Amino acid sequence: MPEKIKKIGVFTSGGDSPGMNAAIRSVVRACAYHNLECIGINRGYDGLMKGDFVPMNARSVKGIINKGGTILKSARSKEFRTKEGRQKAHEELTKQGIDALVAIGGDGTFTGAMIFNQEFGFPVMGIPGTIDNDIYGTSHTLGFDTALNTVVEAIDKIRDTASSHNRLFFIEVMGRDVGHIALNAGIAGGAEEILIPEEDLGLDRLVESLRRSRKSGKTSSIVVVAEGDKIGKNIFELKEYVDENMEGYDVRVSVLGHMQRGGAPSCFDRVLASRMGVKAVESLLEGKTNFMVGLLNNKVELTPLDMAIKGKSKINLELLRVSDIMST
Ligand code: F6P
Repeated sequence: MPEKIKKIGVFTSGGDSPGMNAAIRSVVRACAYHNLECIGINRGYDGLMKGDFVPMNARSVKGIINKGGTILKSARSKEFRTKEGRQKAHEELTKQGIDALVAIGGDGTFTGAMIFNQEFGFPVMGIPGTIDNDIYGTSHTLGFDTALNTVVEAIDKIRDTASSHNRLFFIEVMGRDVGHIALNAGIAGGAEEILIPEEDLGLDRLVESLRRSRKSGKTSSIVVVAEGDKIGKNIFELKEYVDENMEGYDVRVSVLGHMQRGGAPSCFDRVLASRMGVKAVESLLEGKTNFMVGLLNNKVELTPLDMAIKGKSKINLELLRVSDIMST
């Protein structure tokens, strides 16, 4: 580890998420504040191995706090998973005199950073950027709040057409293997049912519940399905099953897809990104390494990277109960 950190590299990796630009801005400005040099690394680990570096100062990040995506671009790199790839990255960093890294991304990004730290003793700090909210050690990942707002807006619009045509809509939302987006946006969008991987409702209980809600006077329904849910093989088979087993409902499917990852970050994500960037830089300056910054009880705290990767982000059981009661 260098005596004193003077030059920090920052990059985004994995699926982009709203708030990544705000986090880059925060890292760059925190570096400027502490008289450190800051280098932007393009296209995540790919750019790191190729030395695709760009010096950044406080003015390089003007006008980006409100922008979705990431100005540094992102990628999922296979080569960095090899020892040779990581060796190349280390050589590029040494050539440039970069002595610490801030990695903005999800668990794949953190796994790469942690291995890199173990192999070369290189100081790394992670900032959780993913819409999935599937990282242990933070109540919110960057982009989760914005994605929720995007999904709720979409559900509201679909409900208009669902109720006009007395239809049942299955709406698939992202979230990889977890149901945080589905559960939260489902409650906020007034979904009749929410299907998440953490809870196996079962096809028969789903049909039963839809019949019950129709009996109670509902003429249309919204079912939010997390992409990782295992109840049907996929959402289209789910539709087929309900078509075959429930008479009289006109069923449609809407897969929201990558629009959930785009758009201007919410106020919450901008503030969170600003706080996390400052904490990441200042923690490196204090000599800390191999941690992720996260939000815990409204404080920005550090969690060891291995815990952030291995620990599971738990579904909020109270939300599950509230969603059951709301669908009465
Ligand atoms: O991790 C973010 C995410 O958007 C997941 O919700 C989704 O499963 C995945 O990335 C999609 O990845 P890709 O952009 O490679 O299709």
